[in-house]
Amino acid sequence: MEEASGVRMAPGNGENSYATNSRLQEKAILETRPVLSKAIEEVLSTCDSTMVVADLGCSSGPNTLLVVSEVIGAIRAYTKKADDARGVEVQFFLNDLPGNDFNFVFRSLEYYHNLGGGKDTPPYYVAGLPGSYYQKLFPRRSVHLFHSSYSLMWRSKIPPELSSCTHLNEGNIYIGKTTPPIVIKMFQEQFQKDFELFLTLRSRELVNGGRMLLTFLGRKSEEMLMHGDVATAFEWVSISLQSLVQKGRVEKEKLDSFNLPYYAPSVKEMTRKTIRYLTVPIVGQTSPSA
Ligand SMILES: C[S@@+](CC[C@H](N)C(=O)[O-])C[C@H]1O[C@@H](n2cnc3c(N)ncnc32)[C@H](O)[C@@H]1O
Repeated sequence: MEEASGVRMAPGNGENSYATNSRLQEKAILETRPVLSKAIEEVLSTCDSTMVVADLGCSSGPNTLLVVSEVIGAIRAYTKKADDARGVEVQFFLNDLPGNDFNFVFRSLEYYHNLGGGKDTPPYYVAGLPGSYYQKLFPRRSVHLFHSSYSLMWRSKIPPELSSCTHLNEGNIYIGKTTPPIVIKMFQEQFQKDFELFLTLRSRELVNGGRMLLTFLGRKSEEMLMHGDVATAFEWVSISLQSLVQKGRVEKEKLDSFNLPYYAPSVKEMTRKTIRYLTVPIVGQTSPSA
């Protein structure tokens, strides 16, 4: 798997689907509710009556609609509190890679008609937007709020030097205990390039006074690249795959050449990349154990 466009969550709503197995991700959306409300209040105090909101890496299932419903709820609360009679309308863009199960999202929308319910619900319009957030997605200065949850740890691709030299990270699918420092550097550089690109693109697309709420997996520690947090989970998967190689069930070549287009940065790495773009501080960090 060379390009991240090969990444997709399991479609539909069956037992093994993403929709049925994403309660941890739901928790992150609910925990960031106060930050979302604040961002929406700030946007609404400067925009006119139309607000454009984009959820990047929306996937399919209840979480996709939960984001829509949280935004609507926050707008409703603000307009009530501020006695705002502007008649705000919301245009949502739900973005993910083209392989995402958008059909399931659209079918669920029909089912969840009138999200948030009630007569105070602002009129809202929902459109799907297939494409990578590592490319241009919107016209200049057209989006008021970017939201993204549990997605930005996915890289645009596997570091190119790693895909061309398939044995560099033997036996691992991500950064593991036996990953050489040169490979760790490749993962780090890919994150830096991707994140810089993401911020450059979004900063052009955001209106003046717009806001971004980005929640994604990171590391608590600067040094502990291979211990704790996400790396441990992937290490277990690598160990299971190694045992399948030993039993002859998986080709060694396949395991050695497979790497995840993924990187979980530390807060310091994040701050280093975002500092040029930030007008407000980084407000928090979620961890997979949360
Ligand atoms: C773990 S899911 C999170 C989905 C949802 N936001 C949630 O909170 O449940 C990560 C999503 O990011 C999407 N994704 C990964 N790389 C992407 C990219 N470059 N552009 C757009 N979406 C991407 C994946 O397809 C996947 O649907």
